[in-house]
Amino acid sequence: MDVCSVAQVIVVLVLYTLPLSTAQPRLSITQPPHIVFIVADDLGWNDVGWHNPEVLTPNLNSLAASGIKLEASYVQPTCTPSRNSLMTGMFPYHTELQQVMDPSTPTFLPLKYPTIAEKLKQLGYSTHMVGKWHLGYCNEKYTPVRRGFDSFLGFYMGSQCHYFHHKTAPLEEKISSSTKVSSFGHVLINSFLGLRTQGLTQGRDFRFNTTVWTKTEGVYSTHAFANRAIEIIKRHDPDVPLFLYIPFQAPHSPLQVSVSNTPL
Ligand SMILES: *[C@@H]1O[C@H](CO)[C@@H](O)[C@H](O)[C@H]1NC(C)=O
Repeated sequence: MDVCSVAQVIVVLVLYTLPLSTAQPRLSITQPPHIVFIVADDLGWNDVGWHNPEVLTPNLNSLAASGIKLEASYVQPTCTPSRNSLMTGMFPYHTELQQVMDPSTPTFLPLKYPTIAEKLKQLGYSTHMVGKWHLGYCNEKYTPVRRGFDSFLGFYMGSQCHYFHHKTAPLEEKISSSTKVSSFGHVLINSFLGLRTQGLTQGRDFRFNTTVWTKTEGVYSTHAFANRAIEIIKRHDPDVPLFLYIPFQAPHSPLQVSVSNTPL
């Protein structure tokens, strides 16, 4: 597996309306739904409890049981192209994002393609993002808070330490010496290693909006992201439609479990 690939992305789209009072109809077609859009990164088809009982995913199981399961779909094979399509609805050949975005190149989601967040903002939505972007950061204008999101907590690149939120160079070194990788994988690994010789791959990649954020240092990213998402929902005015995009980091490499799950 190369360091940034998304073998399969599972998307859970939850739509719900919050009735304003008991006198209102339960489902109002005049009020836009709140949307919570969760992406599980690198989660394979057989990595969920309803396909494989050895995998314990109680929360996903219950969402799937009360929702709609799409069991066969076509997706882009890797991370950046998938996210590109989720955000813009465009195939990657339009945006030149066919490949995983390498941290050392100035690639980005072109501004001429509006994101779903920009479109929903035009419809009056409050828009928030929590998690992994991987659609460009070489200029602030390509980052989430400039691409339609009112707020952002998370990281710009493809992978990082789940606890300390910095790029993990030793992992790439291990992969390059022990794993057979594609020529593209080699290009990626070599560019990481090249950056490391300049001391550039171990840096922190974690921000709240555009501010470098250290308050979640030591907090497992799944928990940091879930806490922020809960805070957004709790503080949200239910009269305003909410779009909350949560592309979690787990279970993407580096494979690090949370301490609370270690007994599993
Ligand atoms: C990020 O932006 C949101 C929305 O404007 C704001 O509520 C939040 O306080 C900001 N966070 C920081 C750390 O500035």
